[in-house]
Amino acid sequence: MVVFLGAFIIAAATGGAFGFMAARQAAEPATQEPLPSGVTSFELKAFITGFVGVGGGIDAVNNPVLQVNVGDRVTITVTNGEAIEHDFVIEGYSVQTQLLAGSGSRDTITFVADQTGTFAYYCSVPGHRALGMEGSLIVGGGTTTSGPEPAQPVDVQDISKDPTDIPPPIIRNFTTSVHIYMEAREVVAEIEPGTTFRYWTFNGTIPGPFFRVRVGDTVVVHYSNHRTSTQNHSVDFHAVTGPGGGAVATQTPPGQETSFQFKALNPGVFIYHCASPHIPSHIAMGMYGLILVEPEGGLSPVDREFYVVQGELYTKWRPGTPGHQEFDGEKLRNEKPEYVVFNGRFQALTGDSALRANVGDTIRIFFGVGGTNLISSFHVIGEIFDRVYTMGDLVSAPAQSVQTTVAPPGGATAVEFAVEVPGNYILVDHALSRTIDKGALGILVVEGLDNPDVFQP
Ligand code: CU
Ligand code: CU
Repeated sequence: MVVFLGAFIIAAATGGAFGFMAARQAAEPATQEPLPSGVTSFELKAFITGFVGVGGGIDAVNNPVLQVNVGDRVTITVTNGEAIEHDFVIEGYSVQTQLLAGSGSRDTITFVADQTGTFAYYCSVPGHRALGMEGSLIVGGGTTTSGPEPAQPVDVQDISKDPTDIPPPIIRNFTTSVHIYMEAREVVAEIEPGTTFRYWTFNGTIPGPFFRVRVGDTVVVHYSNHRTSTQNHSVDFHAVTGPGGGAVATQTPPGQETSFQFKALNPGVFIYHCASPHIPSHIAMGMYGLILVEPEGGLSPVDREFYVVQGELYTKWRPGTPGHQEFDGEKLRNEKPEYVVFNGRFQALTGDSALRANVGDTIRIFFGVGGTNLISSFHVIGEIFDRVYTMGDLVSAPAQSVQTTVAPPGGATAVEFAVEVPGNYILVDHALSRTIDKGALGILVVEGLDNPDVFQP
């Protein structure tokens, strides 16, 4: 996975690939022996991939932990290892080197480490911290209280819904009653390797199940809340005409069951989500999914359909922090997620979970946004959507030949396109900080014969 992600990052941000990967590596604490008389010195070499230790216990370590005692006089010498400019800043100590212009350029900072704690050091040139130029200065012993607890055992191996797990198109030409079953489950799973989070889900995955009915059908919803839940949960289907979209009828305590039924009056691609207090939190924890109400006559046939839903995770720490992440309600209130993800976790739809197709296939992606808060600018790098069912509208004629489309929180779309050229196509939210730094990245792998008439490398 790292290989082709790296290739993408090179294409998207020249020179960034290795910094991106370096950001995923946790630096091992260095056993730096303090010099006598409370003097500690370090030497670092700056690259866009990170600060590399020179000499002592930090030799050759990328972004080493700099461990000092309270009261030490600390000297840090930073040498630029390459042609592009870098600097070195320590947050909380207001110390900073000169801008180091050119390979071999160097500067030394000296300060007294008089406050206990863990302080980030980084390069302040725009984008360099995000690409991996970041580490920690630890002053005193046992001062890592600002870090997360160790990762927890997981309840589910993969929180991410399989994007191909979609019921087949409806072929019947009459309406009927459709029974659907949902269970609210709170589970611990990985957001990314080595980092866990306690999610709230429908049926143990994010998004929850993809439901498929026909306009005019009567849908009977059987709702249960697992006995191990800590919260009441419910569901609001945007396809429902009735109070709360079903949320009034399904407020369900742990270990109990509720049900209701509705007639699907309108065709479309609809979000469903939990609507128990505090609603923004229940959505942010992962409680959302899609229901498709097919129009009479169904949708046009395609070779492959995929199910992708974007959501946000409001965690205490940034992506790449190993351990057990905590929910951060203040970040939710301020609409500042640390993670933006497709199908529940950081870069979920890559590697073994990538979308797959063959040259010549026609593809439909049902794309929704659970939220809580961000509008997605959905785009597939290297493709143009032949048809977009804007806002999930399956009644009007679709928009055609579209580069990027939007899906708002509590909204959805369906896009269709043919794949003519083999290769890796990257699904993104084109608000690209969310993709490169926060995880909203998926890959569509297209296999088949080269098509030099359309594209020649
Ligand atoms: Cu809930
Ligand atoms: Cu809603």
